[in-house]
Amino acid sequence: MDSSTDSGCSSPRFSPQLSPSSSVSELSSPGTEISTLFCSSFTNLPYPDQQFIAVVGGLGYIGSHTCLELLKAGENIIIIDNLSNSFRGVYDRLGLLSKRHYEGRKQDAPTMRFYEADYRDESTIRHILSDYVKPAQLCTTGDDDSVISSTIKGVIHFGAYKSVSESIQNPLKYYANNVAGVIELCSILQSFNIKTFIFSSSATVYGSLANSGVPLKEEYCTHQTETFIDHDGGIRTVFGGCTGLTNPYGRSKWMSEAILSDLALADPEWNIIALRYFNPVGCDESGLLGEDPRGVPTNLMPVVLNVLAGSLPVLDIFGTDYPTSDGTAVRDFIHVSDLACGHIAALTAAFNGRVPRGFRTYNLGSGMGSSVLDVVGAVEAVSSAKIPVRTVDRREGDVGICVAMPERAEVELDWRTEKSLETSCRDIYNFLEKQKSSLAAIRS
Ligand code: UD1
Repeated sequence: MDSSTDSGCSSPRFSPQLSPSSSVSELSSPGTEISTLFCSSFTNLPYPDQQFIAVVGGLGYIGSHTCLELLKAGENIIIIDNLSNSFRGVYDRLGLLSKRHYEGRKQDAPTMRFYEADYRDESTIRHILSDYVKPAQLCTTGDDDSVISSTIKGVIHFGAYKSVSESIQNPLKYYANNVAGVIELCSILQSFNIKTFIFSSSATVYGSLANSGVPLKEEYCTHQTETFIDHDGGIRTVFGGCTGLTNPYGRSKWMSEAILSDLALADPEWNIIALRYFNPVGCDESGLLGEDPRGVPTNLMPVVLNVLAGSLPVLDIFGTDYPTSDGTAVRDFIHVSDLACGHIAALTAAFNGRVPRGFRTYNLGSGMGSSVLDVVGAVEAVSSAKIPVRTVDRREGDVGICVAMPERAEVELDWRTEKSLETSCRDIYNFLEKQKSSLAAIRS
């Protein structure tokens, strides 16, 4: 049963802000004058008494839901997004939802700011970050990194490409953005002494291990040597590495994790958490945020919704010969608001110094598997519509079963999923209904 409430994540909260801003603000500033040295940006410092979480790629599907939960948790946020797979209107909706959330409450809505910028554009990112260097340090030349301190206390990084098929066709694009991008971003953050970093990873890092049929533990894919107790009670030692990665997208996530793990080993000041998402579905219950990619969707739920909306005639079910109860593939579907709350829990752990060895991976999944036909049935139930399906061959690179063992996140982050697949379908159906009337507006 769902137990979450309108007040946001029920998992651990941040300490309250001392002086939250009085209003939702919209101060896009990549075009404003910002000095390369910290000293002369003093007059531009937007909120010297506030602290921020920077969210890279914060207007996409998971990013926007995480931004909303951050705002509900009282966090000031800055969003950096190049709108390559999102829309400017999402920012306005976040402002609206935050305002609604804080209406009638004692606490004012936190500050939110948006920078339309590519996170790989080094000079722009440096300019943005220089706006958030603490006033006492503004007159340093920046030569001695150790004295610089930022009002950005942590970064959540969603800014990656995520199409498996595109990554196969254009691997360099994926490695440049997803892998080189992480290296560049962390180098910049390091020079600003911002060393709390939450990375969007994926269950895809488990590769073909998913086919083993047992819930996936984080230790099945590590970057350093680890000894652990396996599902059968046996003590196992694993060495860094992974097997059966089937595409450049998956490899880009694995490589990024490995690089971040090495970074944390080299510099213990870093607190880095890689969150391995299972299959996010659903949307905020308001129906104002949802999955609205620019390209043609290939993930199951968006395709089902397109069929429901009539923009696709039929759902192709990729494979009915998997070793599952109904023969269709099984996934661990997780409501995107639960997933968003996982980021709040991860940040809390990082701020409280609870990240072992400076780098830790966590599965964000429910531990429950549902088949493709279960999803179709759940969408049909909430919409009272019949979804036309046809069965076709397995999709290349797919695994049959991919379900999380979510215990590490439960124990160490005090986080678990709360919303069911049915709730996810109801929320996404609500979004679809609302979107019909306002699609033009959000894409403005
Ligand atoms: C996919 C990616 C994964 C990525 C994740 C992001 C592949 C091989 N993997 O995972 O790397 O992290 O998305 O969310 O693309 N299905 C159909 N018909 C459809 C669409 C999907 O039957 O039209 C089936 C698929 O075969 C699969 C299941 O639905 O068995 C889930 O598919 P999808 O939503 O694409 O997610 P994953 O394949 O699990």
